[in-house]
Amino acid sequence: MSKRLPCIVSGLLAACSLAAAPGDQTLRQAAGNRFLVGCALSPNDLTDPKHAALIGKQFSVLTAGNDFKPENLQPSLGRFTFDAADQFVAFAQANDMKVVGHTLLWHSQAPKFLFQDESGQPLPREQALANMKEHITKVVTHFKGRVIGWDGVNEGVDDAGPYLRQTPALKAIGEDYIQKAFEYAHAADPSVELYYNDYNIEKPYKFPKALRLLTALKDANVPIHGVGIQGHYLVSDTKAIDELDKAIGAFAELGLKVMVTELDVDVLPRKASGADVTLREQGADLYKDGLPADVAQKQGQYYADIFKVLLKHPGVVTRVTFWGTHDGTSWLNNWPVRGRTNHGLLWQRDLTPKPAFNAIIDVLNAK
Ligand code: XIL
Repeated sequence: MSKRLPCIVSGLLAACSLAAAPGDQTLRQAAGNRFLVGCALSPNDLTDPKHAALIGKQFSVLTAGNDFKPENLQPSLGRFTFDAADQFVAFAQANDMKVVGHTLLWHSQAPKFLFQDESGQPLPREQALANMKEHITKVVTHFKGRVIGWDGVNEGVDDAGPYLRQTPALKAIGEDYIQKAFEYAHAADPSVELYYNDYNIEKPYKFPKALRLLTALKDANVPIHGVGIQGHYLVSDTKAIDELDKAIGAFAELGLKVMVTELDVDVLPRKASGADVTLREQGADLYKDGLPADVAQKQGQYYADIFKVLLKHPGVVTRVTFWGTHDGTSWLNNWPVRGRTNHGLLWQRDLTPKPAFNAIIDVLNAK
């Protein structure tokens, strides 16, 4: 029998682990030393002891779903708030889990004052660079030694345009804001890994732009260690898995580690592919009363196929992180359609494992 001992760390319930019995294998056990397995969560997820125990048992690395984003760490100019993020790190450490920081720079959930004046105009380049340097330096220094890697820049490549997204940072600083962000982060903590993170960069419409950016960064000797493929998939997208395989190979050729950083498999219909947080749409809420068994099986197969691809790239794929744990915690309940009952993750709302969980364990054990 696997045994769980509850313990209290920094006011949060932590799950102290003893070895699990055969047949009760966890994701982190099944993955072994091939790659880290993680999830994103918020401190609220840790207030339910059963849920906290599941997290402490299943995963080897955590990402904060929101707490490390710029608007939460620097809510007003020069005022940094680390309390929630520090509690999060304490939970991870108490459960022998690593932490990844998400994210130093993003166009969303970022305070406007970093790159814009009060009327919304871009700040002068030198001022924007100074603000960016201050944010990155303070944050990376604060978590030094407690975070293994940072998403240095999130979603810098554009969907519709020819190359980079026209973010407030780009408008104020220019295209080299990405290079500068990595350099500032590296200067603050030379031992922390730095990643470029984005969605749909394995899709034919976006892959060449991402490859151009990553190649340019590598050619300029920018301190970048890996690329995060977010992995917000749709169960109806049958091309995605092959595209993922090819993209991992191409990114590895640049000498980058590859991570799947925000994995979920949406079963509800939507127009948006990827994960542009600015998109909103209407859509049917098909499975309000639960996920039909055949759809759950199909989703399980999809997850299994993803993991088969990841195992094809040993030493390259270093982490897989799910964007949540049970379906009730998923951002897909509110994106791109608000207020649906979605089912993109590995556990049902009552923490029962879904077919997808078992399918992944089987794939990990077959190799
Ligand atoms: C999401 C969070 O999960 C939500 O709670 C928040 O309201 C919006 O952001 N891509 C990313 C993540 O890089 O930061 C996003 O997280 C999901 C899409």
